[in-house]
Amino acid sequence: MKVTVFGIGYVGLVQAAVMADFGHEVMCVDVDETRVENLKKGIIPIYEPGLTPLVESNYKEGRLHFTTDAKAGVEFGELQFIAVGTPPDEDGSADLKYVLAVARTVAQHMNGYKVVIDKSTVPVGTADKVNAAIGEVLKERGVDFDYAVVSNPEFLKEGAAVSDCMRPDRIVIGTDDEKARELVRELYAPFNRNHDRIIFMDVRSAELTKYAANCMLATKISFMNEMSNMAERLGADIEKVRQGIGSDARIGYHFIYPGCGYGGSCFPKDVQALVRTADSIGYDSELLKAVESVNYGQKEVLFNRVKKYYGDDLKGKTIALWGLSFKPNTDDMREASSRVLMERLWAEGAKVRAFDPEAMEEVQRIYGTREDLELVGTKDAALKGADCLVICTEWKVFRAANFEEIKSQISDPVIFDGRNLYEPEMVERYGLEYYGMGRGASI
Ligand code: NAD
Ligand code: UGA
Repeated sequence: MKVTVFGIGYVGLVQAAVMADFGHEVMCVDVDETRVENLKKGIIPIYEPGLTPLVESNYKEGRLHFTTDAKAGVEFGELQFIAVGTPPDEDGSADLKYVLAVARTVAQHMNGYKVVIDKSTVPVGTADKVNAAIGEVLKERGVDFDYAVVSNPEFLKEGAAVSDCMRPDRIVIGTDDEKARELVRELYAPFNRNHDRIIFMDVRSAELTKYAANCMLATKISFMNEMSNMAERLGADIEKVRQGIGSDARIGYHFIYPGCGYGGSCFPKDVQALVRTADSIGYDSELLKAVESVNYGQKEVLFNRVKKYYGDDLKGKTIALWGLSFKPNTDDMREASSRVLMERLWAEGAKVRAFDPEAMEEVQRIYGTREDLELVGTKDAALKGADCLVICTEWKVFRAANFEEIKSQISDPVIFDGRNLYEPEMVERYGLEYYGMGRGASI
């Protein structure tokens, strides 16, 4: 099938490459000329395992195209994906300006029946707005083409985006248009080989399903972080509690890892947006507000701990920091817990010497060159001359640590671990103090 994807970011590019890999012909349209030109040269704008070879091979084989020419894009596919960003606006609700801009563009160049598929995460009611925007432009043009607007939210995780997209748990399709339903079913048929993953529903339910999924996951994490804070005060070990509850199939092991707060471009934004949606219908979502506020607090825990350890005086201290991205296997720094930590440390006059396997370029782009931030090429280099070690992201390369080396390099033998990478007794055997999250009495 011929498919057009507007927006070549995490979602658009991965979805396009995977659809091309299954044999569809995909045209990607973006307003960012540099991004489009780079992609034609094989330069991929994001770090995502497995994505580069997938894009390269499908581009070479002629199933994947990149352009800034919106007219060519609209004319290309009967199916038109909208996969642009929906960032929070000032009050936290989802800003739909990019989504509606694409809707108008599609209408501007529409030359026959189109199915407009909303992949971006959008509040309930957005399909109606997309529908209306298209209708208005067609009216202005004085033409009358048939079209349908479908909600098809995306559930991929960064760092595992390619495999999530190739083998989705479910494919949610919201539509009440019979023709659109059959075309989308055909589009996703190659993903459905061993069992039917498609769940059809009405548009509004599909839109809400996306927020409900992210907010449920964020709720699990904030709940565990709250338990973790209580475990410290009660002298219990949250890792034991995690195993104890995860073994109950009704609870499960997924997304119950305590840590230094959830980040990324989705959970913080989507929890906030659903709170705003609730406000807009006069419903006070006390639970989601609590999820958000627990997470704000959790992002401060590492900083507060380090500050307390140094008797409230961080001036002149150098903190070795392992892990900067909001989670492993990505270079994405959006809402990363490390940012809260670094910014608080800088405000207190401390320096940060940091290493991350992928995110350092992005950190440099965000913070520029500054005296109190040194980005170094290895985890060992981060330790040299530092006072203590803090861990923010659980990259695999940090899992096996040379504790003797750590002890010999940092002047105060202490590790603050925001991701519970090590067993406390093992670290303590090397004469290091170790503060994990929720692992018995802490400071
Ligand atoms: P992104 O910021 O990585 O990419 C968005 C792209 O859209 C950019 O390349 C931008 O230049 C382009 N764009 C903006 N306006 C355009 C226009 N008018 N025409 C063509 N291109 C345009 O965004 P993302 O992370 O891929 O997220 C996209 C949507 O998917 C959001 O709603 C997000 O919440 C949702 N989502 C993201 C993820 C994720 O892991 N990142 C997962 C599931 C859902
Ligand atoms: C999340 C969802 O997992 C995806 O299903 C969804 O499609 C996506 O948001 C989206 O809507 O964009 P992502 O943000 O890429 O994906 O990353 P996650 O793996 O969900 O992690 C989010 C944050 O939660 C990270 O900071 C991670 O460290 C934290 N987390 C995750 C925990 O603190 N504990 C856990 O047990 C799991």
